Amino acid sequence: MFILGMGFVGQFLAHKLHKQGWSVSGTCTSHVKKKQLEDMGFHVHLFNANHPELSILGLMKNYTHLLVSVPPVMGIGDPVLHHEELIRSSLVSGSLQWLCYLTSTSVYGDCSGELVDEDYPANPETELAKLRLASEEGWSNLAHYLGISPLLFRLGGIYGPGRSAIDTILKQGPLSKGQKMRNYRKYTSRVHVEDICQALMATIYAPYPREVYNIVDDDPTPREEVFAYARKLVEKKWPGLNLQAPEQKEFSVVRTRNRSGEKQVSNARMKKELGVQLLYPDYKSGLQSIIDQIHSPFPCH
Ligand SMILES: NC(=O)c1ccc[n+]([C@@H]2O[C@H](COP(=O)([O-])OP(=O)(O)OC[C@H]3O[C@@H](n4cnc5c(N)ncnc54)[C@H](OP(=O)(O)O)[C@@H]3O)[C@@H](O)[C@H]2O)c1
Repeated sequence: MFILGMGFVGQFLAHKLHKQGWSVSGTCTSHVKKKQLEDMGFHVHLFNANHPELSILGLMKNYTHLLVSVPPVMGIGDPVLHHEELIRSSLVSGSLQWLCYLTSTSVYGDCSGELVDEDYPANPETELAKLRLASEEGWSNLAHYLGISPLLFRLGGIYGPGRSAIDTILKQGPLSKGQKMRNYRKYTSRVHVEDICQALMATIYAPYPREVYNIVDDDPTPREEVFAYARKLVEKKWPGLNLQAPEQKEFSVVRTRNRSGEKQVSNARMKKELGVQLLYPDYKSGLQSIIDQIHSPFPCH
């Protein structure tokens, strides 16, 4: 398996595959991270698609499986597909048989709260979501050119150990602008990283009949609710911890401006065709498992 972009999901999958005896290589953009990943036992290459070492792209042809998790960049598009010709010419004589591009449910745009399955027409609204859709098309075309059935995994908001409402509360930092912007949607789809890995593994070990799969849990809940629940879990586990008050005022300013993007994303195809039984069907079970694994309330202790 070659993982272009060993980020949050990439690393989780790498650990799983490694345990099963797979040879896993991947890329990241910084020396510090490369060292950390190498210490975990992975072969890692420094690769930044904006200033690429192009020989790294040539290495991919030695692998049977390719996971792409590098996101598009504003004003640039898919930074890896900028080198599409090179990738095509390298992979065409290679061993690749599986290619999955991790994308986002943002490609559907605003669907007025409707239930959205994979046949719902993509209608991205933001610049980034438009670039995301273009990336999907690019990776899909590349896979078809190579004679492979592409996989496009449209992910909801990704959370898991180290990246969740609990972690944000424990770090006590303010929410990022992106986090606040997502806050007041009535439906916010999310998915636990373990369930993304489950779905990926399902496609690695059995045929998959379609190209596009929504990978989300059963419970699209407003972010506000998720944070309130996370706060309760933290207060229960560590009574007396001096937590920062929720930033209600800031939230309500955004609430009035950000009503778009509403949709309930369906995961029926993932369950039916990939046989995925979610480990964390809702944010409550996901957060509970995360807090159960944290021994100290202070991050990095
Ligand atoms: N976070 C969410 O809630 C969410 C929701 C839906 C979809 N997605 C998308 O799903 C994918 C996987 O998510 P994730 O949370 O695992 O992502 P992530 O942790 O941000 O990992 C992205 C990976 O891409 C690498 N990368 C970024 N820019 C690059 C560039 N210009 N050239 C080469 N590599 C580059 C990063 O390198 P470093 O390791 O050096 O940082 C990292 O390894 C991403 O495309 C993400 O945008 C995310």
